[in-house]
Amino acid sequence: MSEKKIVLVTGATGGLGTAMCKKLYDDGFIVVANYRNEEKAKEWKEKLHNEGYDIAIYYADVADYHSCGKMIEQITKDLGNVDILVNNAGITKDGAFRKMTPENWKAVISTNLDSVFNCTRHVINPMIEKGFGRIINISSVNGQRGQFGQANYSAAKAGMHGFSKTLAMEVANKGITVNTISPGYIGTDMVMAVKEEIRNQIIAQIPMGRLGGTEEVAYLVSFLASSHASFITGANLSINGGQHVY
Ligand code: CAA
Repeated sequence: MSEKKIVLVTGATGGLGTAMCKKLYDDGFIVVANYRNEEKAKEWKEKLHNEGYDIAIYYADVADYHSCGKMIEQITKDLGNVDILVNNAGITKDGAFRKMTPENWKAVISTNLDSVFNCTRHVINPMIEKGFGRIINISSVNGQRGQFGQANYSAAKAGMHGFSKTLAMEVANKGITVNTISPGYIGTDMVMAVKEEIRNQIIAQIPMGRLGGTEEVAYLVSFLASSHASFITGANLSINGGQHVY
């Protein structure tokens, strides 16, 4: 790489986010981590620092357009334009649809899908001016196939790929790629929060018979961020141990 590129990872302090930040850092990117919980983020930064990772942290509520704008303005002032954006922040509020509250619908749509607009909108024009950019949207197998109890989550995750496909077409001739990664069940706190009995039933449906590792997803993120992935755009890359093939 001729010049170090700046990568912003949203929701960076979670299991997937942490693995991505480390891998991207190891691969020579300048990594910037977005967080919502200040106390957790400070501990996270300190822990990574002790492991040899120098990663700046920036607050934004990704569900809020203006909060994202402020964060990206500050990053641009401090470090420069964001070259690569990984829209990774996400939450679950699982429950059968017939009992789902408007609050649980809105919370998941705002954090998981509105966030993609909120962050991408603020970085896209500088990317167009520079003639380079990468947008990487972290979706889910459950956006590809649906999952009992996840009408809100599946809708948001499917929406992310609709967004990727259209934006990919709009900016393909500007040196910018836009892709979706759809991980299956990965060994994160989010998956470990599913009741053990249900989780074991899910693992039994995965042909590889195991959960994915966070670093397995991180490798794919770093590949998409790299110059080697310059002809891949509008794609939805599955990484799910064979749980959903089509
Ligand atoms: N399929 C069919 N029916 C089911 C079912 C299933 N998988 N699960 C429950 N039901 C039935 C129940 O038997 C019950 O039937 P009756 O009303 O006839 O008794 C009915 O549906 C409602 O069940 P509950 O009252 O238990 O429903 P609930 O609102 O409490 O929700 C749940 C249950 C919390 C959604 C639970 O099913 C669950 O945890 N499912 C797993 C959800 C999941 O996979 N989440 C992934 C989180 S990790 C992640 O999202 C990362 C990623 O990208 C992969």
